[in-house]
Amino acid sequence: MRILVTGGAGYVGSHTVKELLARDHYPIVYDNLSQGHKEAVLSGELIVGDLANQEELRKCFDKYKIEVVIHFAASCYVAESVKNPAWYYENNVVNGLNLLKVMLEFGVKKIVFSSSCAVYGIPAKISIPESHPLNPINPYGMTKLIFEKILKDYEGAYKMKYISLRYFNAAGADESGKIGEDHNPETHLIPLVLQTALGQKKNIEIFGTDYNTPDKTCIRDYIHVSDLARAHILALEKLTKEESSDIFNLGLGKGYSVREVIETARKITKKPIKIVETGRRAGDLPQLVADASKAERELNWKPKYTKLENIIQTAWRWHKNNP
Ligand code: UFG
Repeated sequence: MRILVTGGAGYVGSHTVKELLARDHYPIVYDNLSQGHKEAVLSGELIVGDLANQEELRKCFDKYKIEVVIHFAASCYVAESVKNPAWYYENNVVNGLNLLKVMLEFGVKKIVFSSSCAVYGIPAKISIPESHPLNPINPYGMTKLIFEKILKDYEGAYKMKYISLRYFNAAGADESGKIGEDHNPETHLIPLVLQTALGQKKNIEIFGTDYNTPDKTCIRDYIHVSDLARAHILALEKLTKEESSDIFNLGLGKGYSVREVIETARKITKKPIKIVETGRRAGDLPQLVADASKAERELNWKPKYTKLENIIQTAWRWHKNNP
């Protein structure tokens, strides 16, 4: 299939492109390289373009005869979204609408959307199913929720079919060691912990040690990026076969605290990794753990990396080789 992958040079995007190529699909990456890297697109077409540029998008749909879209391109920092909501609404919602507009012009009515557990807000129970109330507490989560709602309305009015994938915390790196996590600036816990192990940072800050969790630090559900990538392929197959819209959580269903992540990284890297305890980061939630049983049941998705240790091992290999 000829698939437009917006944000395909980014972290989850580039791992998904690799998976698409392995299955003989034809991905066309559309990325403005603001966060993505051209080296992360291992093969296939890369169009350096912005979703704000409708003309460029039209050229792309026309030239490559796009059949379906996987939409990753977005700004994705919770704290930044609290400081600069205008940019998040513009990039994640307005630019997303541009994409949908051009899709409709070209009669492309299937999209897999990269959503987030940030749509839920403060969890009412420990593991969160898709049916959990949606009350995002930061603009980032709100932009993802708004786009999900837009897709639902576009289904009603224009028969657009979508699958929204609500990721929990993407982590790790491809086994080949060729692609991995490389954000600028980096804000995510695991890469920062590993940068500390490599001596690139003096210490790792723990944001908040007064949460209502067993060791007082935040708990997250870390899911391997290659497992996320495989879920996109399954979603794409379901969407093209059944032509029905749906929403799935993607996580392991296990939570690890910030301290547990650091401890696991110490074991793997055999480095001391110095900690500095600081205050809470704006927009952070105490605990986010997925109930991903629907994806296992209905997408037939089985994560290959079921232990934090194995996930961090792949990330460590990548960080050591790409300091
Ligand atoms: N953390 C630290 N120190 C750091 C970095 C992070 O203590 O230097 C903590 C955070 O406070 C958080 C946990 O580590 O409790 C994980 O933080 P990340 O930045 O790695 O990930 P987030 O959980 O903040 O973000 C992820 C996704 C977002 C998504 C969000 C939902 O990356 O896209 O979950 O809340 F929106």
